[in-house]
Amino acid sequence: MGSLRSIEDLAIEGRRVFVRVDFNVPLDDGRITDDSRIRAALPTLRHALERGAHLVLASHAGRPKGERKPSLSLEPMGARLAELLDAEVLLTDDCVSEAAGKIVGDLRDGQVALLENLRFNVGEEKNDEGFARELAKLADVYVNDAFGAAHRAHASVAALPQLISERGIGLLMKAEVQSLQRLREDAPRPFVAILGGAKVSDKIGVLEALLERVDALLIGGAMANTFLAAKGLSMGKSLLEEDKLALARTLMQRADERGVDLLLPKDLVVADAIDAERGQVVEISQVPGDAMALDIGPATVDAYRDAIMPARALFWNGPMGLFEREPFSRGSIGVAQAGAECPGFTVVGGGDSVAAVNQAQLAARYDHVSTGGGASLEYLEGKELPGLSAVRSAEVG
Ligand code: 3PG
Repeated sequence: MGSLRSIEDLAIEGRRVFVRVDFNVPLDDGRITDDSRIRAALPTLRHALERGAHLVLASHAGRPKGERKPSLSLEPMGARLAELLDAEVLLTDDCVSEAAGKIVGDLRDGQVALLENLRFNVGEEKNDEGFARELAKLADVYVNDAFGAAHRAHASVAALPQLISERGIGLLMKAEVQSLQRLREDAPRPFVAILGGAKVSDKIGVLEALLERVDALLIGGAMANTFLAAKGLSMGKSLLEEDKLALARTLMQRADERGVDLLLPKDLVVADAIDAERGQVVEISQVPGDAMALDIGPATVDAYRDAIMPARALFWNGPMGLFEREPFSRGSIGVAQAGAECPGFTVVGGGDSVAAVNQAQLAARYDHVSTGGGASLEYLEGKELPGLSAVRSAEVG
């Protein structure tokens, strides 16, 4: 872990410990639909409370762009955290304000302060030094446990820790880095990666990096449509990126040169619209002109399972289809099942693929379920994440 210190090594007893968490959880009309990110922070928070720290938690939620949007308040997250910790969680009116300073200053043992959504302040996403200095007034010790946001060079992630000499990472961040570092630097072979989701353009960096390291790369989701179109297949009305066809061809050629097995769907579930009640399974060469591909088909699930089972290291990011709609969820569930049965070191990351694993109640059968989507991809790609570098090596200001 290099020069990274973890919360276990920091002097936190009786001090104000600012923990950057990622409580950016999915909400439906103010109700939390998946609290995994809050649960994932509990080991760090319990550790701090047991050692008598005064906990000051901060997170973003959504993308309010500096505006105060009541629908993106951290109020439901605070309420859920209070239940999970069985402790009082005091939500401040703003992340930096006189009242917030007073709540933090008056914290009693066992109480937790949760600062209101960091992104209600325009300084957060700008990595504004002045905003970071305001936050620093609330902290003696800084801990970053927000792996999901570690790829964002925002004030609470990048500028703030540079102002606090006693700093480190939380237990969640430590577990995330250890698992992903194993895949990045020392993955047992065969190493198989599964990438899905909508766009090739979102994943160019990680596609290129993985092609240097994996033995097989399985592609699904609308991303696969771009690869199939690049092979000359007619994809009807399917979502695809016309301007990435040449890139897809280059990636396929690179896979070929490096002896990487790049697997694409053999069959697809198609329908005439995303709200269709059911889909129809077709061979990839038979996509009707007025239909769109919305999931991988059963023959593809079988082929992907055959590729997944011998893996000694497996990484999966991105759904195989329009997973949130039941008629188009079978590809993602099938891959989730195969990953769970794979005896190798298995890691899944990214909102929808993790949701598929959770929905199928398979999370416990993976070695690591990452709370980061973009962050896990950037880390695997070989990038140093701002959330790690700021804690590791920055000068104290
Ligand atoms: C996420 O959900 O991926 C993280 O919380 C980061 O959120 P962002 O993409 O809005 O920066």
